[in-house]
Amino acid sequence: MRYDVFTLFPAAFDWYLSQVHIRGAERLGHHFRLTNYRDHTPLGHLQVDDTPYGGGAGMVLRIDVVCAALEATFGVAAPRVREERRVVELTPKGVQLTDALARELAGQDLALLCGRYEGMDERVLNVVTDRVSIGPYVLCGGEIAAMALLDAVTRKLPGVISNPESVVSESHSPGLEGGGEYPQYTRPVEYREWVVPEVLLSGDHGAIAAWRAAQVTRRGRPGEPQT
Ligand code: 6GU
Repeated sequence: MRYDVFTLFPAAFDWYLSQVHIRGAERLGHHFRLTNYRDHTPLGHLQVDDTPYGGGAGMVLRIDVVCAALEATFGVAAPRVREERRVVELTPKGVQLTDALARELAGQDLALLCGRYEGMDERVLNVVTDRVSIGPYVLCGGEIAAMALLDAVTRKLPGVISNPESVVSESHSPGLEGGGEYPQYTRPVEYREWVVPEVLLSGDHGAIAAWRAAQVTRRGRPGEPQT
């Protein structure tokens, strides 16, 4: 698949794109590309944003700048870019990212549009297929959200996570019916007064499976010992 990210801050992705699972995806033939809106602005002084019509705080990313970046990258008129890929605006106004949406997006080429400032000119609706949020809170820009989306999507690609079991058994997969993962332990068996549940040391695979299934519904309550 091809994953194109449009941003004013490409350097924000330097660490993320060097992660081992992204490198692995590239080895499998997937492509990650960053485009800086500013490199394609048709305006003088490298301008990309402007004051909002009607007044109000902050600056708005201009639609002509977004379209110029899409056209320079894909070589077709901006509204046609979405004919061959999902064009996703990262915005707190979007639908919340879920594991199911990540799985759906993993099967398609993606263009991710990161906003900054007070957002993008609403006419971006003429070029996107989706508006996605990563949760009910406001971030200063779409970059962290784009990385979260790429991370959730990339691990769905066949072969990226070397043990496919871990993709099936992980939190929020349909296999767990929306429940969480079971708790994991490793050595040492005893640390301070904290011990590993005995059943995990028993070698009784049936008992272990039953214990794990029972734990799945109990997640997210810090302070309660899980025994
Ligand atoms: Cl996608 N963008 C911004 N700026 N804030 C967010 C978000 C996205 N998702 C949750 N908050």
